[in-house]
Order: sequence, then structure tokens, then C-alpha cells
Amino acid sequence: MRSKIVAGNWKMNKTLEEATALTSEILKMVTDEVSSDAKVILCTPFPYLLPVKKQLDNQTRIATGAQNCSEHEAGAYTGEVSAPMLASMGIPYVILGHSERRQYFGEGGSLLAKKVDVVLKHGLTPIYCCGEPLDVRERNEHEALVKQQVEESLFHLDADTIKKIVIAYEPVWAIGTGKTASAQQAQDMHAVIRKHLADKYGQATADSISILYGGSVNAGNAKELFACADVDGGLVGGASLKAKEFVEIIKSIS
Ligand code: 13P
Repeated sequence: MRSKIVAGNWKMNKTLEEATALTSEILKMVTDEVSSDAKVILCTPFPYLLPVKKQLDNQTRIATGAQNCSEHEAGAYTGEVSAPMLASMGIPYVILGHSERRQYFGEGGSLLAKKVDVVLKHGLTPIYCCGEPLDVRERNEHEALVKQQVEESLFHLDADTIKKIVIAYEPVWAIGTGKTASAQQAQDMHAVIRKHLADKYGQATADSISILYGGSVNAGNAKELFACADVDGGLVGGASLKAKEFVEIIKSIS
């Protein structure tokens, strides 16, 4: 059985004080109110990973994740953070290939393949993002693009290794816009991704990989999205910055 996961992507938000307050609130509510065994991951800005991890130290329900890391292991790369650094801090997850990294920082397929490799080499789990911009969907080329994104950064892995990846489908037109993909649109794309994985690696491997939906997930739409057969949880942006709403989203997974 693949894992159900709700991950919050805080992006570049919150002061340290706000980040620790948000973590405390989420931790308390998850401990008191959440009965499912869905994994919860807080993907915080780099400087908050250790303080947040420390707050979460005495429990196993909530884990930490980074939002990016370098494709290099060490060296003269001013301002970068490496996978070995994250591993040495005990951070288990890292988002790779978020559309904001693709769009504003020019990240693409071959670079992301290198990041996937270095992250796996150091024992972290990549949350690999894919998803189409609006014009691509309007041209009805979204399936082809997302298949290509999965292929170019993940298909060099062998079957045992790709099982260690989490995939997040995040249509760019739904990110931060308040415009969510319908449950049907999400399910259709998740099924396309899973079939693409099955064609390459076999059904059993494809069935073991968690595929999360991201793009304006909120407390009102999470239940319907998470009920889709191939949607294994969510990668949540704006709504993960509000403890109560984020915990409502976590409760929507069964
Ligand atoms: P929103 O939930 O704010 O649309 O962001 C989604 C996202 O980019 C998560 O990685």
C-alpha cells in the first residue's frame, strides 16, 4: 500500500517566530485531533528546518522537508544548500522541480535528474513536482508535457529506486490562483502519470508510488480531491500557512 501524505510547502514565508508558532499549533492539533496515519510533512524555508525539526523531535507524525537543494554535493557554490547538509541535519524530504523553481530559476529536466540522484544518494526522499502551464493545457498538450517531465528526470532510475520517490502533480494554472483542478481533472492526470510509470516499471511498482495533488488545495476541496483513486494526498501552499485550515486538510484524508 502506498503512503497517504499531506505536505505543506511554506515557500518563502514566515519569520522564525511565526514559523515556530505555526509548528506548535499544527503539532498540537494533529496530536489531539487527527486519527488517520497519513504522513504530514512541513517543507519550511532552509533556516527554519532545524528549529522546526527540534519542535517535532519527540513524535513521529510530522516530518520536515526542504523546498530545494543543489545538484552538487559540496564546493564553491555560494548561497546553495546541498543534499549531504540536509542529510546531516536529519531532514528526510526535499521538494524538487517545483514550478516556481522551473519558472523563476530556469530549472529543467536534466538538472532535476541530477538533483534527484544526489538527493537519493544521501538517503532523502525527493518530492518531484510536475505540471503544465495554462497555455499547454489550452492546447491540450498537458498529458504529453507531464509525461515528458516525469520521463526526463526520473526514468533513468531503476524500479527499486523509483519506488523511493514521491511525485506531486501541480498544474501551474492552479498554483496560488484559487483555481483548483476539478477532482476529475486531477484524477485523470494522476492516472496518466501512474500508467506512464506502469508502462515503464510494471503495475506493482507504479501502484507503490504516492502521487500528490497540488494547486489551491484548501479545507473546502481537499476531501473530494483526496477521494480520487489515484490521488494519494496533497502538496499544499497557501493553506498550509494557517494551522487550522492545514489540519482540516489533513483530516480530509482517509
Ligand atoms: P497553493 O496551494 O498556494 O496553490 O500552492 C500550491 C503549491 O505550489 C504547493 O507546492
